[in-house]
Amino acid sequence: LRVGILFGGRSGEHEVSLMSARSVYRAIDRERFEPVPIGITRAGQWILPRDAEALLEAGRGVEPADGVPLAVVPGPEGRRLLVLDGGPGGDGAGAGSSGTGDAGGAGAAGAPGGRWLEPLDVVFPVLHGTFGEDGTVQGLLELAGIPYVGAGVLGSAVGMDKAVMKELFRARGLPVVPFLVVTAARWRREPAAVIDEIEGALGYPCFTKPANLGSSVAIRRCRDRRQLEAGLAEAFAYDRKVVVERGVDARELEISVLGNDEPVASLPGEIRPRAEFYTYEAKYTEGGAELIVPASLPPRLVAEMQRLAVAAFQAIDAAGLARVDFFLERATGRLLVNEINTIPGFTALSMYPKLWEAAGLSYRDLITRLIELALE
Ligand code: DAL
Ligand code: MG
Repeated sequence: LRVGILFGGRSGEHEVSLMSARSVYRAIDRERFEPVPIGITRAGQWILPRDAEALLEAGRGVEPADGVPLAVVPGPEGRRLLVLDGGPGGDGAGAGSSGTGDAGGAGAAGAPGGRWLEPLDVVFPVLHGTFGEDGTVQGLLELAGIPYVGAGVLGSAVGMDKAVMKELFRARGLPVVPFLVVTAARWRREPAAVIDEIEGALGYPCFTKPANLGSSVAIRRCRDRRQLEAGLAEAFAYDRKVVVERGVDARELEISVLGNDEPVASLPGEIRPRAEFYTYEAKYTEGGAELIVPASLPPRLVAEMQRLAVAAFQAIDAAGLARVDFFLERATGRLLVNEINTIPGFTALSMYPKLWEAAGLSYRDLITRLIELALE
């Protein structure tokens, strides 16, 4: 089976995707699958398989210069993507040599300047964050009729939006940290009222988070009014919607969910960040955080987490995989669902695969299982 491995992407988590995709590319079972790497630059340009493979092997980032200005459109036959170079009005000759040799039938089917990517049987979008984990790429693959690993359009979009995600969790009766959602329009119109409302409802410390980013990019812990104002301003630079959450003094626990309509949950793991919370740096710096697999917890809490994790997965209509992140509040012993990630960090050392490895499912076999779930 030809498995497209999409990596990079127009996202603040571009680098993280490179790490995840490199691991997947190296570990995928080549007796069963032919991996076909396809890169996406930070600017959203696509990099065809031959060049993409070189990039993954080279182990460096994908620079805008690496990509060709491609529009990708689904083919009329199933399982194909038509790659158009040259952009609107272009003659298709200007995109250089990238990808020639990957694509058959240049300009075929009445598509001047277009090349067909070889058909893919399934795609593993190893993309984190915007334009990859949020339903956009999933929509493209739906249009192209190509099965893919992970949540569909709806689950991906909801899983990316912390505000809608939390509303759905709350509607299902899942315990969540108290939060407020603020729009940029309201923040501009009545900043003082916004601050008053946050102070009244949540107090300090609180966390400001852009609704649609991952990996803790632009998340701030705010201890006073001045920091809250700065945190909001920073978050609004990334999104028109910001989630503000009450800060809880808690252990950070994560659990892996695998399956489609009848998913199963792993044992929980614990994160011990060295920083004051699990920041971007703590996530991706060697020694920035300690991962404890499995977490040391009483069986009653493990069972409760597993139940809540599956409920969170189903609340957003996820599929394939997701990692559900929890807080265990120190003062009360209460479990709170923090969030769900539909394409969690996926290097061989990341929490999602490590939790399955502890359950006896190797990284390689996990990739195989996810591809099987995509084709179900
Ligand atoms: N958003 C990052 C990749 C994670 O959740 O692991
Ligand atoms: Mg996340």
